[in-house]
Parts: sequence; structure tokens; C-alpha cells
Amino acid sequence: MMKDYLATIVKNERIAENIHSVTFALDEACKVRCGQFGNISLGGSHLLRRPIAVCKVDGREVTFCYQIKGEGTQKLKTLAAGTKVNVLMPLGNGFFIEEKEKKVALVGGGVGVFPLISVLREYGASKEISAYIGYRNAGAVCGVDEFEKARKFVGVTDDGSYGDKMNAVQAFEADLKKGNRPDVVLACGPTPMLRALKALVERENLTCFVSLEERMGCGIGACLVCVCDLTGGAKARVCKDGPVFNASDVSL
Ligand SMILES: Cc1cc2nc3c(=O)[nH]c(=O)nc-3n(C[C@H](O)[C@H](O)[C@H](O)COP(=O)(O)OP(=O)(O)OC[C@H]3O[C@@H](n4cnc5c(N)ncnc54)[C@H](O)[C@@H]3O)c2cc1C
Ligand code: FES
Repeated sequence: MMKDYLATIVKNERIAENIHSVTFALDEACKVRCGQFGNISLGGSHLLRRPIAVCKVDGREVTFCYQIKGEGTQKLKTLAAGTKVNVLMPLGNGFFIEEKEKKVALVGGGVGVFPLISVLREYGASKEISAYIGYRNAGAVCGVDEFEKARKFVGVTDDGSYGDKMNAVQAFEADLKKGNRPDVVLACGPTPMLRALKALVERENLTCFVSLEERMGCGIGACLVCVCDLTGGAKARVCKDGPVFNASDVSL
């Protein structure tokens, strides 16, 4: 059930270049589906809450990983252990893998790698998961201890400083050509990456779900700030109808 939790920071630390991880202790345990997110209040009436994907849940402790971008994430970075923050969660629909879908490909880039860690934690034991993860460079590499728990992990970078020099979609396509064909593809990352992936899965006739990142206001379906276009011409709210959509249903 969605709730505005009063969360106490347990740990807030740098995990890679420009990327930090914050762990909150909630006032009570929260049931979260992989791919769902929290809307974090950073205080001050001028600052809207910031949507961040849930990366890990462990009892009453919830971890989010965030890239420092602007005012909100700069502020979050400065908050010390013991600070209390309001976190509205769990929000959005999240990823869902059907019983018949046994082989799963995770394709992620940029801050999109964090919700995919939550997929691996939820389905790693019951599904055969291959993860294709793209980072900007070796300094940005994070989450490897988690992704290495997948059946297969291919980490690549834009400049070749870690793994092969390619993006996550190219890494996935290379493996597809070798015959490693999944039953379903789950993806999150920058829009150009998702656009390239959508073209690939359409050519290959694969089922694919993408998690979209849209600017948000309320996070609960009321303000319409986050509306995206569906392929049929209709519109959807990324916060409430998504953030996960069938790739064939959204215009990218
Ligand atoms: C469902 C969802 C999950 C996300 N998960 C993560 C995550 O796990 N890790 C992570 O680092 N980032 C994630 N993001 C992106 C994150 O919300 C933005 O990077 C962050 O809000 C930027 O805030 P800022 O104040 O630092 O930057 P500013 O640029 O100052 O933000 C200004 C405004 O724009 C919004 N905004 C800016 N960039 C984005 C963006 N890419 N997506 C959505 N809103 C944006 C902010 O919420 C704010 O309202 C997610 C976004 C969504 C929608
Ligand atoms: S953020 Fe308000 S409707 Fe989606």
C-alpha cells in the first residue's frame, strides 16, 4: 500500500563517479514490486519531490541509487545518517514476469541500471536472467556485485574502459545473434537507448517492457506532468499507468 513513510537515513555514500547510494530505515516494512519507485521529499517548499527507483529492499531498509544531476540530488547527497525524510512509496506498476517466461534479458544503461537490480533480486532465483548493462566509462561502473549473480552478465562502456566498447543494446544484440534468445526483455535507460531497443525487438519479434523516465510532479496520477504518448494516439501517465510499458504500446 502506498504511504508517505517517515524514513531515517542509515547510510548515504558514493558508490561510483557522480553516483551515490542512500539507505533509509522506514517506520514500518513496505512491500515493493521490482521496478516501482519512491518520490523523495527533500524539504523546502520550492523543491518538488524527486522520483527514484527502488533498488533494494531488506526488511524495513530500502536503498535507492542516484546520479547527482541538479538541485534535488545535490541536496540528497548532503544528508547525513540520522536525517529524517518523507518518501512516498511504492509508486508505479513495476515489472512483472509471466510464469511461462523463463529466459529473461535485462538491458540497462545510465540510471536505468538501478531498477534492473531490483528485478534480479526478485526473480534471480526463479528465472534464467542475462544482464546487458552499459556504463559511460569505468568510473561509472556500479552494481557489479549484484549483476554478477545473474546467469550471465555482460558489462560494457561507451569508451571501452570497462568491458567492450559498445552500448547495452549492442551487447544484447551480439548475444542474440549467438542464439541466446530470451522469452522477454526488460529494459530501462535513456530514451535513445530504448528507441534503439524497440527497433531491435520489433525486428526480432521479441516481447519487451521498458521503464520510462519522465519529469514528474505528484507521482500519483493527479497532476499530468508526466504524460507520455501511446502508439494508438492516446496518452498515459508514466507515474501511475507506468513507469513500465510494453515497448510496442509507447512512442519513443
Ligand atoms: C520512475 C523514475 C525512476 C527514476 N529512477 C532513478 C534512479 O534510480 N536513479 C537516478 O539517479 N535517477 C532516477 N530517475 C531520474 C531522477 O528522478 C532525476 O535525475 C532527478 O529527479 C533529478 O533531480 P535534480 O533535482 O537533481 O535535477 P534537476 O534537473 O534540477 O531536476 C529538476 C526537475 O526535473 C525533474 N527531472 C530532471 N531530470 C529528470 C529525469 N531524468 N527523470 C525524471 N524527472 C527528472 C526533477 O524531478 C525535477 O522536478 C528516475 C526517474 C523516474 C521518473
Ligand atoms: S507525476 Fe503527477 S500525474 Fe504523473
